Amino acid sequence: MIAKLSVARGAGRVEIEAEAPEWATVLDALESADGTQGILYRHSCHHGSCGVCGALVNGAPRLLCRTRLSELPPGVVRLDPLPYATVIADIAVEPGPLFDSLPDFGYLRPPARPGSVPDQAPLPSDRPERERERFEDCIECGLCLAACPVLVPVERDGSDEAKRPIRPFVGPAALGMARREIAKGGPASREARAVAAAPDGVAACDRAFACSRACPRGVAPGRLIEELRRP
Ligand code: SF4
Ligand code: FES
Repeated sequence: MIAKLSVARGAGRVEIEAEAPEWATVLDALESADGTQGILYRHSCHHGSCGVCGALVNGAPRLLCRTRLSELPPGVVRLDPLPYATVIADIAVEPGPLFDSLPDFGYLRPPARPGSVPDQAPLPSDRPERERERFEDCIECGLCLAACPVLVPVERDGSDEAKRPIRPFVGPAALGMARREIAKGGPASREARAVAAAPDGVAACDRAFACSRACPRGVAPGRLIEELRRP
């Protein structure tokens, strides 16, 4: 089949075509296209575990490597950068807003971005290495933030206005992380309860559950937020 892709480039778009088999993903099509006109996109694992290939596919936040062409309606596939992320160029984004939202429970963190604090080293923690665990199952793709109607309240057209939250909200990934921390009952559970109880915590969620539908890993942050509402 011939896949036709329309990819955002700033205020304009780049149209490309790719020869792709039925089972191909959108990422496969991008990689096999001739003359991609230098389209910038991110990928690494190709199997839904690195979390860097998120984009809006026909307006919905998806992983490019987990979206088969055959599951999309016929016609041109429209690709746009994830909202609530920092656009590098075209559909390549850097999930800084997601990392900024995650509470510091002593987890290992990526190196600080230029201009952020503190320095390039992982955040200091007084907890032993064995207690530093990743937020289970979450691949930090940012799809839940892009899907959240509180964080991205208007039509997802990539404009600056579309990136402005309707109220301060720490976001589904951070609250899901807090719920897991409380469930573990570890040393950070008190801090996690404070994150959930803050004005920009559970109370700021509109219960749309768009985060759970968008999550490619079954983390179901919407359900975890509901669990945080219970006394
Ligand atoms: S909770 Fe799900 S959608 Fe949100 S960042 Fe983690 S893996 Fe991605
Ligand atoms: S390339 Fe790793 S999640 Fe898509």
